[in-house]
Amino acid sequence: MVFISRPVAGAPSLTLDNTSLALDYERISATRHMAAGTALVEDLAIGPGERVLDVGCGTGLLAEHIAHIVGASGHVLGVDPLPLRIGLATSRARDNLSFELGDAYDLGRIADRSFDAVVLNAVLHWLPDKTGPLLAFWRVLKPNGRLGISTQLKGDVPQLVATARAVLAEPPFDRHPRPREGITFRVDAEELRALLQTTGFQANRLEVRETQTRHASPQDALRYMEASSFGNMVGHLPPELRDPARARMRERFAALAGPEGIVSTNRRVVAIAERR
Ligand SMILES: C[S@@+](CC[C@H](N)C(=O)[O-])C[C@H]1O[C@@H](n2cnc3c(N)ncnc32)[C@H](O)[C@@H]1O
Repeated sequence: MVFISRPVAGAPSLTLDNTSLALDYERISATRHMAAGTALVEDLAIGPGERVLDVGCGTGLLAEHIAHIVGASGHVLGVDPLPLRIGLATSRARDNLSFELGDAYDLGRIADRSFDAVVLNAVLHWLPDKTGPLLAFWRVLKPNGRLGISTQLKGDVPQLVATARAVLAEPPFDRHPRPREGITFRVDAEELRALLQTTGFQANRLEVRETQTRHASPQDALRYMEASSFGNMVGHLPPELRDPARARMRERFAALAGPEGIVSTNRRVVAIAERR
């Protein structure tokens, strides 16, 4: 089965990714996004023999972790619209773990009621419209199937993000405003509860959690932000301004460093819901 990604109005650019960002994401997600992802999987109580769909699976690290849990009698399918990330993920494929190019807005090829659980770790905030994808998750889940979401909290502006935004608001970068789609589409807990309710889910657990991320250096922090946004952080700038913007960000990030490196506190909304 092959998925064809469709552009969705208002969605972030999927064309700014490159091999170096994809490889950086692989390295970075192993220690950072993975912590939130494994906690989410634990909350979903995924067990042996289950079929799990990991939407926006990136380079497949979390999907591989889930495949260990579901074992030989279960199956995990990871989908992501970025070809380079799916390319890296595919090297992890095995009998109970497969990957396909796919998009949360284009899951029509997946059969109704075919999964026990759907997982979205650090993905929902990249989706401008959330109702369509949530209805698709409902359709592909078996009755009482579970949906696990961990996503950036609306209104939470970690110091690193505020610093990067301040740089982009300075000359000469301010002459090229970031398009709306380069910025995430976050929800708060109540908005997520309402979205889940109107798409046929019952939220059994909905909470805000805090994570501390430590970056060894300003460059490490910058790569984390660029790789996690698949190039959308400075990708809107003309090519000749991207390196100067990165240099200015590194300079400002250096001022945030303490003895432990740069410690960033992020808050996310976590939902464990059930198909009604
Ligand atoms: C921060 S990464 C998270 C990757 C992975 N879930 C993890 O936990 O490491 C965000 C991912 O969302 C994916 N994404 C963005 N838009 C998407 C869409 N419309 N449908 C599915 N995935 C999407 C990106 O390609 C990227 O791999």
